[in-house]
Amino acid sequence: MKEIIDVKVRVRKAGFSQCKTDLLVTGHFSDSKVLDKVNTELDKKLKGAIARVIELGDFKGKDGDSAVLYGNENIAAKRVLLVGLGEKKKVTLDSVRRAAALAARKAVDIKAASLALGLHKVLGRRFDVSRTAAAMAEGAYYGSYRYDEFVGEDENGRLGRLEVEIIDSESADTGKLQKGATAGAIIGQAQSYARTLANRPGNVVTPAELAATAKKLAGQYKSITCTVFDEKQLNENGMGAILAVGAGSKNGPRLIILKYNGGNKANRLPTVGLVGKAITFDSGGISIKPAEKMEEMKLDKSGGIAVLAAVKAAAELGLDVNMYGLIPAAENLPSGSSYRPGDIITTFSKKTVEIHSTDAEGRMILCDAISYAVKQDCEIIIDIATLTGACKVALGQYMAGLMGNDDRLIKQLQAAAEESGEKVWPMPCGDEYAKEIKSKIADLKNVGSKWGGACTGAAFLRQFAENSKWAHLDIAGVDIFAEDAEAGGQGASGFGVRLLTSYLVNLAKK
Ligand code: BES
Ligand code: MN
Ligand code: ZN
Repeated sequence: MKEIIDVKVRVRKAGFSQCKTDLLVTGHFSDSKVLDKVNTELDKKLKGAIARVIELGDFKGKDGDSAVLYGNENIAAKRVLLVGLGEKKKVTLDSVRRAAALAARKAVDIKAASLALGLHKVLGRRFDVSRTAAAMAEGAYYGSYRYDEFVGEDENGRLGRLEVEIIDSESADTGKLQKGATAGAIIGQAQSYARTLANRPGNVVTPAELAATAKKLAGQYKSITCTVFDEKQLNENGMGAILAVGAGSKNGPRLIILKYNGGNKANRLPTVGLVGKAITFDSGGISIKPAEKMEEMKLDKSGGIAVLAAVKAAAELGLDVNMYGLIPAAENLPSGSSYRPGDIITTFSKKTVEIHSTDAEGRMILCDAISYAVKQDCEIIIDIATLTGACKVALGQYMAGLMGNDDRLIKQLQAAAEESGEKVWPMPCGDEYAKEIKSKIADLKNVGSKWGGACTGAAFLRQFAENSKWAHLDIAGVDIFAEDAEAGGQGASGFGVRLLTSYLVNLAKK
C-alpha cells in the first residue's frame, strides 16, 4: 500500500527573491489598487509580470483565484504563485488557511517538491503572527491531502513528499512564526490522519481494526491510555444499544475508551468527554438504505475518527485538560442476527428504546457512550456524529448542526468554529422534539416524525446527558467533499478535528 503524502512544515528566514523553492506563494487582495511593498519588490524582479497579470484581468485577487508566474535570473524560486485573499476588510485567518490550502494543492498537482509560503506578508499586523502561521500550516496539510493508498504507482503519480516553508526575512518574527507553525502542523497532521482513516473502506476498517488503531495511537503517547470493550465486556456492562446495532455483522462492535491525562495543571478544569459515532459501514440494517450512494456510508465513522484525531492533537500539543475520547464502533448490516424494527432495547442507562428504524443507529451507539461519559463524571460532553440526512438537507455541505443544553458551551463551540474555519449553525433540540421520541411501550423510540429529523435525533441524545453540559455536532453534510468541492480534494473532509482541537486549546488556556 502506498503511503499518504508526507508533508513537513518549517520556518525559514528568507526574503521573497532569495528564497530557493519550486513554488513561492504570495497573496493579493481583490480590492488593492496597488501592489503592497513585498509584492512590488517581487514584481520588479519579475520585470512587471505580477502587475501585468493583474492588469490583463487574468488574476483578480478574489477568494479562490490564483495565477502561476515563472521565475527568472533575478529570483531563486522556479515559480511564483499569486493567491487571492479576497477583500482586504473581509479577510480572516480562514482566508489565509484556504489560500495556503489552494497553494498546497497546486504544488502537489504540478509535482513541486517544495513550497514557500509568504502569505502573511501582505497582512501587516492584522492578525497574531503565530496564529497566522498556524493557519498556513493547517492549510498546507489540508490542501495537499489526497487519498490514494490503494492506487498503484504510475509515472504520472505525485511525489512522496512536500516540503513546506513559511518564509520571512525579519528575524523578529521567526520565533512567533515557528511556534504557530509547530501547532498548526500538529493539527494539520491530525486532520490528515483522520481523513485517511475515514477514507479507508468498511472491509479494511472494522470496529476491531479501529480499536487496534486507537490502541496503537495510545501506545505512542504517555498521556493517552486506551481500553477497549469487546462484545463480552459490552455484555457485562449492559451496553445493549451498542450491542444491538452491531448484532447483524460478523465484525462485532466495540467501545473504544481513550483517556487523555493533561497533567496536574489540568485538574483545575472539568473533565471533558468527547464522544464520536463510528459506524464503520451503515447499510441501514433491516431498514435498508437505497443502493445509490450507499458507498458513501463508509464515512459514517467520521465522528469517531475526529475524536481519535483530536485526542492525538491534544497529546502532541500537551494541552492541560483531562478528557475521555469515547468511540462506540459498530457495523450496521442486515442479517439473521440483526436487531429489528419493533425490538425494545435496554440501554446502558437502563432506559428502554423501541426501534422504529434500524437506520437510526447512530443515536443508539452514542447513547451508551454518552451514559458512560456521565458515569465517568465528565462535566462537559461533546458528541460528534454523521447523525442525520435531515441535517444535510437543512444546512447543506458547508456547516455542521450544533445543538446542546448549555448556552455557554454552545458559544464556546461557535467561537472554536470561527477560529478553525469549520463552521457550525445552531439548531434546536428542546421539549417539542423530545415529545416526538416518546414511546407508548418503552421509555423512548429511536425515530421522531417525518419533520425536523436533525432536531429529534439531537433530542434523543439529550435524554442521556443528564446533568452534564452537553453539545452535539451533526456532521452529516460536512464529512465529505464532493469532487473538487474544496481545496482539500475528494472524500473524507476530516471535519471536526480542527474545531474540537480549537475548543480544547481555548479550554486549556483558562
Ligand atoms: N448515517 C446516517 C445519516 C447520514 C445520511 C449521514 C446521509 C450522511 C449522509 C444515519 O445513520 C441515518 O441513516 N439516519 C437516518 C435517521 C432516520 C432513520 C431517523 C436518516 O437520516 O435518514
Ligand atoms: Mn443509519
Ligand atoms: Zn449512520
